[in-house]
Amino acid sequence: ATQKPEIYKGLVGVYADVSSISKVMPETNSLTYRGYAVQDLAENCSFEEVAYLLWEGELPTAAQLAAFREETASQREITPALHRVIREFPKDAHPMDSIRTAVSFMGLEDPETGDVSEAAQYRKAKRLFAKIPTAIGATYRAAKGLDPVAPNPAHSFAENVFNLVQGRVPEPEVLKAFDVSMILYAEHTFNASTYTARLVTSTGADMHGAITAGIAALKGPLHGGANEAVMHMLKEIGDPAVAKEWLQSRFDHRALVMGFGHRVYKSGDSRVPTMKKYAEKMAEVVGDRTWMEISRILAAEMLEKKNIHPNLDFPAGPAYHLMGFEIPLFTPLFVASRVTGWSAHVLEQQADNRLIRPLSWYTGKEQRPVPAMAAR
Ligand code: SDX
Repeated sequence: ATQKPEIYKGLVGVYADVSSISKVMPETNSLTYRGYAVQDLAENCSFEEVAYLLWEGELPTAAQLAAFREETASQREITPALHRVIREFPKDAHPMDSIRTAVSFMGLEDPETGDVSEAAQYRKAKRLFAKIPTAIGATYRAAKGLDPVAPNPAHSFAENVFNLVQGRVPEPEVLKAFDVSMILYAEHTFNASTYTARLVTSTGADMHGAITAGIAALKGPLHGGANEAVMHMLKEIGDPAVAKEWLQSRFDHRALVMGFGHRVYKSGDSRVPTMKKYAEKMAEVVGDRTWMEISRILAAEMLEKKNIHPNLDFPAGPAYHLMGFEIPLFTPLFVASRVTGWSAHVLEQQADNRLIRPLSWYTGKEQRPVPAMAAR
């Protein structure tokens, strides 16, 4: 081409492939996984059922769910070698960097490393789903000088995460709220980290490579890192009485307000009402309404002054804080969930693959001769 073509910066509005995993309908603020509305899945299913749904395309029967739980719960242990490596991580490492490194290491020692057949890739996905919470717990606790907690195969996914990180299993309302967050975080079409995982897969690379890259992409504050940024922001504001004033200063500096806006949704994120409801429940359980009150004021102001709605990270941040998780763990918790969606996309990409390789329109120097060293 000699004439500059249309450039879709940020790939805005580009349909890059077909997918049968999830569907976002921004005109109705709705989202389905394999045809089921996320809010219905959140209210009626466990996260394990949703993981099975994303991979298999159908909800499990009671027998299928029992077999799936047993298979994955028996794979939660991480190796002594990985525990040793984790103890060598810098104590001040960001937990997202730690989990990215741990997942990459799991690829080295995976029993089927090098096997990229679809069956092996699916088994790897289930192993990652099982082991990621263990690695999150171990890295978090090692950085604090604490011994890791051993995974208990009798625990549900949610019970397991609390036990591995906090060394306790909370009351059922808290477990339910956490499980809801896992369901809502599990999958969201071609978001940046999922597309990253698909791109890596398109070269014929393996599951652990794709998931490691997905984690790297999720860390950024424009993407998954926003759930941590939201809680930092709420703590910085600290008091509902100063929330409006704080927000005005953000507007004055033309600064981003974390947890707001979305590439696809322009009139509200499908997942926010459900997550908000459970964040409110957490505020009730803990007996601290500060964060939800500041959130309410920010959301109302953002809508009135900027016509921008909150995204899922906005209610998830305070919900995780109220569940007793430290802020740097929020995005790793997103990883523990999204590994299901990422790996479902890896398998879908692989099943009908074509190398992803777009074009760039050159805007650099005209072609020129290489000058001799003395002439530069
Ligand atoms: C996730 O893609 C997915 O599905 C992602 C995700 C998933 O499940 O995988 O939903 C998870 O990543 C949620 C997003 C978390 N990020 C944040 O909360 C960070 C803050 N948000 C923004 O930076 C922004 O809204 C993005 C990155 C989410 C979307 O960016 P876009 O689509 O490129 O939109 P934009 O930056 O061009 O914004 C359009 C306008 C701009 O104003 P104008 O230049 O047109 O005047 O809206 C403004 C923006 O400045 N705007 C904001 C804002 N978000 C958009 N202004 C202030 N604060 C914000 N948060």
